[in-house]
Amino acid sequence: MQKGMSEDERGLALRANVDTYEHFDERRYVNGAPHLKHESIGKAYRSLVERSLVQIHKDPSAVDVLELGAGNGLASKPWFERKAPLTAVDSSQLMLADLGRRAAAYGIKPTLIVDDVMNYLDTTRDTFDIVTHVSMIHHVPDYLSLLARSSGRVRVGGCLITFQDPLRYDRMPRFHRFLDRVSYFAWRAGQGNLKRGVKTRWRRLRGVYSPSEVVDFDEYHVVRNGVDSEAIVKLLQQSFDSVEVIPYWSTYSRGLQSLGEWLRLKSSFGILASGRKPN
Ligand SMILES: C[S@@+](CC[C@H](N)C(=O)[O-])C[C@H]1O[C@@H](n2cnc3c(N)ncnc32)[C@H](O)[C@@H]1O
Repeated sequence: MQKGMSEDERGLALRANVDTYEHFDERRYVNGAPHLKHESIGKAYRSLVERSLVQIHKDPSAVDVLELGAGNGLASKPWFERKAPLTAVDSSQLMLADLGRRAAAYGIKPTLIVDDVMNYLDTTRDTFDIVTHVSMIHHVPDYLSLLARSSGRVRVGGCLITFQDPLRYDRMPRFHRFLDRVSYFAWRAGQGNLKRGVKTRWRRLRGVYSPSEVVDFDEYHVVRNGVDSEAIVKLLQQSFDSVEVIPYWSTYSRGLQSLGEWLRLKSSFGILASGRKPN
Protein backbone atom coordinates (compact mmCIF):
# COMPACT_ATOMS: atom_id res chain seq x y z
CA MET A 1 0.00 0.00 0.00
CA GLN A 2 1.22 3.53 -0.80
CA LYS A 3 2.73 5.61 2.00
CA GLY A 4 0.02 7.23 4.13
CA MET A 5 -2.79 5.06 2.71
CA SER A 6 -5.06 2.92 4.82
CA GLU A 7 -7.79 0.39 4.16
CA ASP A 8 -10.17 3.04 5.52
CA GLU A 9 -9.20 5.50 2.80
CA ARG A 10 -9.76 2.82 0.17
CA GLY A 11 -13.19 2.03 1.61
CA LEU A 12 -14.15 5.72 1.80
CA ALA A 13 -13.10 6.31 -1.79
CA LEU A 14 -14.98 3.25 -3.00
CA ARG A 15 -18.14 4.24 -1.13
CA ALA A 16 -17.94 7.81 -2.47
CA ASN A 17 -17.62 6.43 -6.01
CA VAL A 18 -20.57 4.06 -5.65
CA ASP A 19 -22.60 6.96 -4.30
CA THR A 20 -21.59 9.31 -7.11
CA TYR A 21 -22.01 6.95 -10.03
CA GLU A 22 -25.24 5.36 -8.85
CA HIS A 23 -26.78 8.88 -9.00
CA PHE A 24 -25.44 9.76 -12.35
CA ASP A 25 -26.42 12.42 -14.85
CA GLU A 26 -24.71 11.76 -18.19
CA ARG A 27 -24.91 15.34 -19.50
CA ARG A 28 -23.33 16.75 -16.37
CA TYR A 29 -20.70 14.02 -16.41
CA VAL A 30 -19.59 14.71 -20.00
CA ASN A 31 -19.53 18.45 -19.27
CA GLY A 32 -16.95 17.74 -16.54
CA ALA A 33 -15.02 15.05 -18.48
CA PRO A 34 -12.48 16.72 -20.81
CA HIS A 35 -11.49 13.41 -22.46
CA LEU A 36 -15.09 12.91 -23.62
CA LYS A 37 -15.82 16.56 -24.33
CA HIS A 38 -12.75 17.60 -26.35
CA GLU A 39 -11.99 15.83 -29.61
CA SER A 40 -8.24 16.44 -29.28
CA ILE A 41 -8.05 14.45 -26.02
CA GLY A 42 -10.32 11.71 -27.38
CA LYS A 43 -7.94 11.43 -30.34
CA ALA A 44 -4.95 11.07 -28.02
CA TYR A 45 -6.61 8.10 -26.27
CA ARG A 46 -7.62 6.56 -29.57
CA SER A 47 -4.00 6.71 -30.69
CA LEU A 48 -2.93 4.78 -27.56
CA VAL A 49 -5.59 2.18 -28.33
CA GLU A 50 -4.38 1.85 -31.93
CA ARG A 51 -0.74 1.64 -30.86
CA SER A 52 -1.51 -1.05 -28.29
CA LEU A 53 -3.46 -3.06 -30.88
CA VAL A 54 -0.49 -2.92 -33.27
CA GLN A 55 1.71 -4.43 -30.53
CA ILE A 56 -0.51 -7.48 -30.10
CA HIS A 57 -0.19 -8.88 -33.65
CA LYS A 58 -3.73 -10.28 -33.67
CA ASP A 59 -6.89 -9.23 -35.40
CA PRO A 60 -8.52 -6.65 -33.05
CA SER A 61 -11.63 -8.82 -32.90
CA ALA A 62 -9.50 -11.47 -31.14
CA VAL A 63 -7.71 -9.13 -28.69
CA ASP A 64 -8.93 -9.62 -25.12
CA VAL A 65 -9.30 -6.28 -23.38
CA LEU A 66 -9.90 -5.58 -19.69
CA GLU A 67 -11.24 -2.12 -18.91
CA LEU A 68 -11.10 -1.19 -15.23
CA GLY A 69 -13.48 1.54 -14.02
CA ALA A 70 -15.13 1.34 -17.45
CA GLY A 71 -18.14 3.38 -16.35
CA ASN A 72 -20.97 3.67 -18.86
CA GLY A 73 -18.77 2.92 -21.87
CA LEU A 74 -18.44 6.45 -23.22
CA ALA A 75 -14.66 5.94 -23.31
CA SER A 76 -14.93 2.34 -24.57
CA LYS A 77 -15.99 3.30 -28.09
CA PRO A 78 -12.58 2.58 -29.69
CA TRP A 79 -12.81 -1.01 -28.44
CA PHE A 80 -16.45 -1.35 -29.54
CA GLU A 81 -15.54 -0.11 -33.01
CA ARG A 82 -12.72 -2.65 -33.32
CA LYS A 83 -15.03 -5.39 -31.97
CA ALA A 84 -12.48 -6.33 -29.33
CA PRO A 85 -13.80 -8.82 -26.75
CA LEU A 86 -14.15 -6.59 -23.70
CA THR A 87 -14.38 -7.34 -19.99
CA ALA A 88 -15.62 -4.22 -18.19
CA VAL A 89 -15.30 -3.86 -14.42
CA ASP A 90 -16.90 -1.06 -12.42
CA SER A 91 -18.24 -0.61 -8.91
CA SER A 92 -21.43 0.90 -10.31
CA GLN A 93 -24.09 -1.42 -11.66
CA LEU A 94 -25.95 1.48 -13.24
CA MET A 95 -22.90 2.55 -15.25
CA LEU A 96 -22.18 -0.96 -16.47
CA ALA A 97 -25.80 -1.48 -17.53
CA ASP A 98 -25.43 1.60 -19.76
CA LEU A 99 -22.14 0.24 -21.10
CA GLY A 100 -23.90 -2.99 -22.04
CA ARG A 101 -26.59 -1.04 -23.93
CA ARG A 102 -23.98 1.09 -25.69
CA ALA A 103 -21.99 -1.98 -26.76
CA ALA A 104 -25.13 -3.68 -28.08
CA ALA A 105 -25.44 -0.91 -30.68
CA TYR A 106 -22.12 -2.21 -32.09
CA GLY A 107 -23.30 -5.80 -31.95
CA ILE A 108 -21.00 -6.56 -29.01
CA LYS A 109 -21.75 -8.26 -25.72
CA PRO A 110 -19.01 -7.42 -23.21
CA THR A 111 -18.53 -9.32 -19.98
CA LEU A 112 -19.78 -6.97 -17.24
CA ILE A 113 -18.46 -7.31 -13.70
CA VAL A 114 -19.79 -5.14 -10.89
CA ASP A 115 -16.99 -5.10 -8.32
CA ASP A 116 -14.29 -3.05 -6.66
CA VAL A 117 -11.36 -3.27 -9.09
CA MET A 118 -9.00 -4.27 -6.27
CA ASN A 119 -11.24 -7.11 -5.22
CA TYR A 120 -11.71 -8.21 -8.82
CA LEU A 121 -7.95 -8.26 -9.49
CA ASP A 122 -7.29 -10.15 -6.27
CA THR A 123 -9.79 -12.86 -7.16
CA THR A 124 -9.64 -13.34 -10.93
CA ARG A 125 -7.30 -15.72 -12.73
CA ASP A 126 -8.15 -14.34 -16.17
CA THR A 127 -5.46 -12.71 -18.26
CA PHE A 128 -5.77 -10.17 -21.10
CA ASP A 129 -3.84 -8.81 -24.07
CA ILE A 130 -4.55 -5.22 -23.02
CA VAL A 131 -5.60 -3.74 -19.68
CA THR A 132 -6.82 -0.15 -19.74
CA HIS A 133 -7.81 2.45 -17.14
CA VAL A 134 -9.43 5.70 -18.34
CA SER A 135 -10.02 8.50 -15.87
CA MET A 136 -9.79 5.82 -13.26
CA ILE A 137 -6.60 5.48 -11.25
CA HIS A 138 -6.95 8.89 -9.59
CA HIS A 139 -10.13 7.52 -7.97
CA VAL A 140 -8.15 4.87 -6.10
CA PRO A 141 -6.05 5.95 -3.09
CA ASP A 142 -3.33 3.30 -3.60
CA TYR A 143 -3.12 3.41 -7.39
CA LEU A 144 0.36 1.88 -7.39
CA SER A 145 -1.05 -1.29 -5.79
CA LEU A 146 -3.84 -1.21 -8.37
CA LEU A 147 -1.34 -0.98 -11.25
CA ALA A 148 0.86 -3.72 -9.77
CA ARG A 149 -2.22 -5.93 -9.72
CA SER A 150 -3.47 -4.98 -13.18
CA SER A 151 0.04 -5.55 -14.64
CA GLY A 152 -0.23 -9.04 -13.24
CA ARG A 153 -3.27 -9.70 -15.44
CA VAL A 154 -1.50 -8.71 -18.71
CA ARG A 155 -0.35 -11.59 -20.92
CA VAL A 156 3.29 -11.80 -21.99
CA GLY A 157 3.83 -9.33 -24.86
CA GLY A 158 0.67 -7.42 -23.89
CA CYS A 159 0.03 -3.76 -23.02
CA LEU A 160 -1.26 -1.61 -20.19
CA ILE A 161 -2.81 1.84 -20.68
CA THR A 162 -3.68 4.58 -18.23
CA PHE A 163 -5.28 7.81 -19.45
CA GLN A 164 -6.76 11.06 -18.15
CA ASP A 165 -5.12 11.46 -14.77
CA PRO A 166 -3.79 14.75 -13.38
CA LEU A 167 -0.02 15.20 -13.25
CA ARG A 168 1.41 15.65 -9.77
CA TYR A 169 0.64 19.26 -8.90
CA ASP A 170 3.83 19.97 -6.98
CA ARG A 171 5.90 18.89 -9.98
CA MET A 172 4.00 20.86 -12.61
CA PRO A 173 5.75 23.98 -13.93
CA ARG A 174 4.31 26.92 -11.97
CA PHE A 175 2.82 28.65 -15.00
CA HIS A 176 1.04 25.44 -16.11
CA ARG A 177 -0.36 24.89 -12.63
CA PHE A 178 -1.44 28.51 -12.37
CA LEU A 179 -3.34 28.37 -15.67
CA ASP A 180 -4.76 24.99 -14.73
CA ARG A 181 -6.25 26.53 -11.57
CA VAL A 182 -7.44 29.69 -13.37
CA SER A 183 -9.13 27.51 -16.03
CA TYR A 184 -10.79 25.39 -13.38
CA PHE A 185 -12.17 28.34 -11.41
CA ALA A 186 -13.35 30.14 -14.55
CA TRP A 187 -15.27 27.02 -15.57
CA ARG A 188 -16.52 26.41 -12.01
CA ALA A 189 -17.87 29.95 -11.76
CA GLY A 190 -19.98 29.31 -14.85
CA GLN A 191 -21.48 26.14 -13.36
CA GLY A 192 -23.27 27.90 -10.50
CA ASN A 193 -23.18 26.79 -6.86
CA LEU A 194 -20.12 28.95 -6.31
CA LYS A 195 -20.78 29.17 -2.56
CA ARG A 196 -20.41 25.43 -2.17
CA GLY A 197 -17.27 25.54 -4.37
CA VAL A 198 -15.68 28.16 -2.13
CA LYS A 199 -16.54 26.16 1.01
CA THR A 200 -14.97 23.05 -0.46
CA ARG A 201 -11.90 25.02 -1.52
CA TRP A 202 -11.50 26.44 1.97
CA ARG A 203 -11.58 22.93 3.49
CA ARG A 204 -8.95 21.76 0.99
CA LEU A 205 -6.64 24.68 1.63
CA ARG A 206 -6.59 23.60 5.26
CA GLY A 207 -5.96 19.99 4.25
CA VAL A 208 -9.33 18.89 5.69
CA TYR A 209 -11.01 15.92 4.02
CA SER A 210 -14.34 15.01 5.47
CA PRO A 211 -15.61 11.41 5.18
CA SER A 212 -19.15 12.80 4.99
CA GLU A 213 -18.30 14.85 1.88
CA VAL A 214 -18.39 12.67 -1.24
CA VAL A 215 -16.43 15.32 -3.20
CA ASP A 216 -13.48 14.86 -0.83
CA PHE A 217 -13.19 11.16 -1.69
CA ASP A 218 -14.62 10.27 -5.10
CA GLU A 219 -11.89 11.86 -7.22
CA TYR A 220 -9.38 11.11 -4.49
CA HIS A 221 -6.11 12.36 -6.04
CA VAL A 222 -7.67 15.25 -7.96
CA VAL A 223 -8.37 16.97 -4.65
CA ARG A 224 -4.99 16.05 -3.17
CA ASN A 225 -1.72 16.24 -5.10
CA GLY A 226 -2.49 14.68 -8.48
CA VAL A 227 -0.97 11.38 -9.64
CA ASP A 228 2.72 10.51 -9.57
CA SER A 229 3.54 9.58 -13.18
CA GLU A 230 7.21 9.06 -12.31
CA ALA A 231 6.40 6.49 -9.62
CA ILE A 232 4.12 4.70 -12.09
CA VAL A 233 6.86 4.55 -14.73
CA LYS A 234 9.29 3.11 -12.17
CA LEU A 235 6.75 0.48 -11.18
CA LEU A 236 5.75 -0.49 -14.74
CA GLN A 237 9.35 -0.68 -15.98
CA GLN A 238 9.75 -3.76 -13.78
CA SER A 239 7.12 -5.62 -15.83
CA PHE A 240 7.16 -4.04 -19.33
CA ASP A 241 9.85 -3.61 -22.00
CA SER A 242 8.75 -0.07 -22.80
CA VAL A 243 6.88 2.53 -20.75
CA GLU A 244 5.96 5.84 -22.35
CA VAL A 245 4.35 8.83 -20.63
CA ILE A 246 2.19 11.08 -22.80
CA PRO A 247 1.56 14.43 -21.06
CA TYR A 248 -1.15 16.72 -22.43
CA TRP A 249 -3.36 19.66 -21.51
CA SER A 250 -6.81 18.94 -20.16
CA THR A 251 -9.32 21.45 -18.88
CA TYR A 252 -13.07 21.88 -18.92
CA SER A 253 -14.00 24.84 -21.11
CA ARG A 254 -13.54 24.55 -24.87
CA GLY A 255 -11.86 27.94 -25.27
CA LEU A 256 -9.34 27.35 -22.49
CA GLN A 257 -8.66 23.84 -23.83
CA SER A 258 -7.67 25.35 -27.20
CA LEU A 259 -5.62 28.08 -25.52
CA GLY A 260 -3.70 25.59 -23.33
CA GLU A 261 -2.99 23.36 -26.32
CA TRP A 262 -1.76 26.36 -28.29
CA LEU A 263 0.56 27.30 -25.38
CA ARG A 264 1.65 23.63 -25.18
CA LEU A 265 0.74 23.42 -21.50
CA LYS A 266 0.58 20.04 -19.74
CA SER A 267 -1.70 19.12 -16.88
CA SER A 268 -2.66 15.45 -17.40
CA PHE A 269 -1.07 12.31 -18.68
CA GLY A 270 -1.54 8.92 -20.26
CA ILE A 271 0.80 5.94 -20.16
CA LEU A 272 1.38 3.19 -22.68
CA ALA A 273 3.34 0.24 -21.30
CA SER A 274 4.13 -2.36 -23.96
CA GLY A 275 5.78 -5.73 -24.11
CA ARG A 276 4.76 -7.41 -20.86
CA LYS A 277 7.77 -9.40 -19.67
CA PRO A 278 7.41 -12.98 -18.46
CA ASN A 279 7.20 -13.18 -14.65
C1 LIG B 1 -14.51 9.20 -14.04
S1 LIG B 1 -15.33 7.70 -14.23
C2 LIG B 1 -14.57 7.06 -15.70
C3 LIG B 1 -15.50 6.16 -16.45
C4 LIG B 1 -14.98 5.82 -17.85
N1 LIG B 1 -13.73 5.11 -17.78
C5 LIG B 1 -14.85 7.09 -18.65
O1 LIG B 1 -13.71 7.48 -18.94
O2 LIG B 1 -15.89 7.67 -18.97
C6 LIG B 1 -14.61 6.65 -12.99
C7 LIG B 1 -15.24 5.28 -12.95
O3 LIG B 1 -14.49 4.48 -12.06
C8 LIG B 1 -15.38 3.72 -11.27
N2 LIG B 1 -14.66 3.38 -10.03
C9 LIG B 1 -14.12 4.21 -9.13
N3 LIG B 1 -13.52 3.52 -8.14
C10 LIG B 1 -13.69 2.22 -8.42
C11 LIG B 1 -13.31 1.01 -7.79
N4 LIG B 1 -12.59 1.01 -6.66
N5 LIG B 1 -13.66 -0.16 -8.36
C12 LIG B 1 -14.38 -0.19 -9.52
N6 LIG B 1 -14.76 0.93 -10.17
C13 LIG B 1 -14.42 2.12 -9.63
C14 LIG B 1 -16.58 4.62 -11.08
O4 LIG B 1 -17.75 3.91 -10.75
C15 LIG B 1 -16.66 5.31 -12.45
O5 LIG B 1 -17.50 4.60 -13.33
